Amino acid sequence: MAPVRTNNTSEPSQLINPFYSPSIGDNEDKGYPFSQFKPYFPEISWEPLTEINVEDRGLHADPSKKNLLGIATKVKHLTPAIGTELEGIDLRQLTLEQKDELALLVAERGVVFFRDQEIDIHQQLDLARHFGPLHKHATTPIPKNGLEEVHVVYNDASRRPDPSAFSKLELWHSDVTYEIQPPSTTSLKVITGPETGGDTLWSSGYALYSSLSPGFQKYLEGLSALHSAVAQAEGARAAGLHVRRKEIETIHPVVRVHPATGWKSVYVNPGFTRRIIGVPKAESDAILSLLFHQISENPDHQVRFKWEPNSIAFWDNRIVVHSATFDFWPSTRHALRATPHGEKPLSVEEYEEKTGKQAKDRQIEIWKQQGVDVSAQQNGANGAHKKRGYND
Ligand code: SIN
Repeated sequence: MAPVRTNNTSEPSQLINPFYSPSIGDNEDKGYPFSQFKPYFPEISWEPLTEINVEDRGLHADPSKKNLLGIATKVKHLTPAIGTELEGIDLRQLTLEQKDELALLVAERGVVFFRDQEIDIHQQLDLARHFGPLHKHATTPIPKNGLEEVHVVYNDASRRPDPSAFSKLELWHSDVTYEIQPPSTTSLKVITGPETGGDTLWSSGYALYSSLSPGFQKYLEGLSALHSAVAQAEGARAAGLHVRRKEIETIHPVVRVHPATGWKSVYVNPGFTRRIIGVPKAESDAILSLLFHQISENPDHQVRFKWEPNSIAFWDNRIVVHSATFDFWPSTRHALRATPHGEKPLSVEEYEEKTGKQAKDRQIEIWKQQGVDVSAQQNGANGAHKKRGYND
């Protein structure tokens, strides 16, 4: 994905890359209360990341999550597949048990939302550190106050998003999946937002896995794919920005298992997954195209969140893909992200060898809990094989 040259204003022609190097804009509003969190691109350089030990906090959680859910005034599942909103909780007050249970809830539901949260960025970083050591992004902005572990999301009237740069499909991504240990329980708090617009959508990798036929699931479980930081780094350089860590490419399993739930999830994304290893290119292109289109187009796997200032979302980057909407120009949207590293992604084989447990299909497990005759569903007795008419 190359950066694009634009000359749609009276400014001289310039290279921009609105997705991979966002937030260059600055509307110079001196009275803005969050000016210390405006984007900043320091010219500093970091060493390559190396492997680190990360233990999933969800493994320590009480499976009932009674300590966390017990203090919520409302628990609202937004769709069957993905997304839960909790009310009545102040994230600044969580105990260690409640933090572990939050990690497990996010692992199960993909993304969990809270509104009206007064938690500040230092407290958000501390909470994120409970989930794992924090990632520092090599190209996207940090805040002007120098907090290197914060990823700033910022758009305002100074630069209109250019729809010729990226298709909406390409904007779907899971954060920095090219890293050796890509992120786990990631949080984003919106501090300034438009009256309407700027929603974020998430799509479940568990649900995508469950939606595929058994033969195709098995086939995908044996595959791995290349994830690349190259386009992002090149886009940043072309926009005149300093890249703080050399770009890398990493191979990860196409189906990974979440260490806390033991559920299988498709782990590819349009933003960073470039090809499947060891198969003809045409086959890789066809498989990735199918999976990418399911991620972006299948509404059964998705949830869409309407932010308000002080809303915060926690998503598990290991098992969901997301995409923001850029429909709010010329309004300002400003958010701060904390991004803990997860474990090295585990294939089904690696998970089963490591834990001695069988990796599971989330949907089948949920149907079992609901008393559904799972063997009938697995054998296609739900009528999926029957010819259907168009249903309007
Ligand atoms: C992100 O990709 O982490 C930011 C998502 C958003 O701006 O909603």
